[in-house]
Amino acid sequence: MSMTVRRLTRAATAGLVAAAALTAAAHSAEAADTLGSAAAGQGRYFGTAVAANHLGEADYAATLDREFSSVTPENEMKWDATEPSRGTFSFGSADRIVDHAQSQGMDVRGHTLVWHSQLPSWVGSLGASDLRTAMNDHINGLMGHYKGEIHSWDVVNEAFQDGGSGARRSSPFQDKLGNGFIEEAFRTARAADPAAKLCYNDYNTDGVNAKSNAVYDMVKDFKSRGVPIDCVGFQSHFNSNSPVPSDYRQNLQRFADLGVDVQITELDIEGSGSAQAADYTKVVEACLAVSRCTGMTVWGVTDKYSWRSSGTPLLFDGNYSEKPAYDAVLSALGGSGDPGDPDDPGDPGDGTPSCTATYTRTADWSSGYNGQVTITAGGEPISSWTATVTLPAQQSVSALWNGTPTWSGNVMTVRPSWNGTLAAGASTGFGFTVAKNGSDAAPVIGTCTAS
Ligand code: G3I
Repeated sequence: MSMTVRRLTRAATAGLVAAAALTAAAHSAEAADTLGSAAAGQGRYFGTAVAANHLGEADYAATLDREFSSVTPENEMKWDATEPSRGTFSFGSADRIVDHAQSQGMDVRGHTLVWHSQLPSWVGSLGASDLRTAMNDHINGLMGHYKGEIHSWDVVNEAFQDGGSGARRSSPFQDKLGNGFIEEAFRTARAADPAAKLCYNDYNTDGVNAKSNAVYDMVKDFKSRGVPIDCVGFQSHFNSNSPVPSDYRQNLQRFADLGVDVQITELDIEGSGSAQAADYTKVVEACLAVSRCTGMTVWGVTDKYSWRSSGTPLLFDGNYSEKPAYDAVLSALGGSGDPGDPDDPGDPGDGTPSCTATYTRTADWSSGYNGQVTITAGGEPISSWTATVTLPAQQSVSALWNGTPTWSGNVMTVRPSWNGTLAAGASTGFGFTVAKNGSDAAPVIGTCTAS
């Protein structure tokens, strides 16, 4: 879709705009019992990374819409997604996220314009002069398409090396254009959408260290020379090897003192229970203690879709139930949620039956395999469940046990045979044997529904 068409379409979609305004009004009128409304009470946004391909999952969308006031497309605005070949822009997945956010009255962070990763190979093969043109064209293409619709853009992402040197990271931009590529990107970005906050974003810069010192020196230099920069993003991916730094707040503050906003842009903390909750509290308290810390974004809605696939680093578990970390964040934001309150969506006792379905291949041979789907009840007992299994076209199911299938094309809908009743958190499952017929691809498991 071209920039012009997008803008005309948006302007013509008066109903959508009206709906967004109504939803925003509803959000602000609510008691502060969600992350977004509690953060708003502190003058901040509370956002999450979103993947377009999960928006059709009812529990995912419901949790997103209820809790968050800002979204960041997790991958859909990156260079490989938006300009896979030179001059050919594709905005379909990113538009879906932006449209969804606007229909819910949420703001959107743009991530990211110039980054060494998820960069199509054609960019790396350009000579310096062409690369400079391509970089500026890319910035103009994205920022033009979304002009006026993005509250903050990560203009340049991860341009500094880890370790003690404080050096710039090798990348096509650094290697061919030198240090000046960063300021050129920011100048181009300012002209492309003067209303957007322009951010530099990086990881392992959360405490005072050689890398954050190098970024600090760059921001200070930019401010002294009038290079347009409005904010610095601190990704804040934490785990036991990279814990929340003790000087986190001081580090945020020293950047703010340079005259830029600071934002926590990709927060996740591996762990569980009260230890994870305590770490999340530290992060929220640090942001609230720095007046120019304008908002926080967690890097995903639910543990089951986190890029840290085994670290359970987010605020909602795989059943979309609120974790202790959720309650800690809400409380630190001054929200009125009550841990374990049956009136809170997602807390045990909320009265909503739910389940999740997870798949494993339990046996494999040249012409076939066995699959097992595990069904786990959420925070409520359930009396029945339904799961869908979509098989690659060539494959066929020759046997199925502990479930009752019905078929529509290659989609198998499975309901319980004897095993519908589950206590809260309990699991059952069904298994099946598949004839590969030349395709070794895995089936796709749909959302589990419960009653
Ligand atoms: O879309 C393809 C799909 O077609 C293919 O079948 C599949 C096979 O692996 O890959 C899919 O792409 C994956 C993509 O996520 C979308 O799911 C890529 O392999 C995978 O590498 C990519 O990972 C993303 C990662 O950035 C890439 O660098 C993560 O989802 C995303 O959370 C992560 O986000 C980054 C921030 O942008 C920058 N800061 C660090 C942060 C965490 O790594």
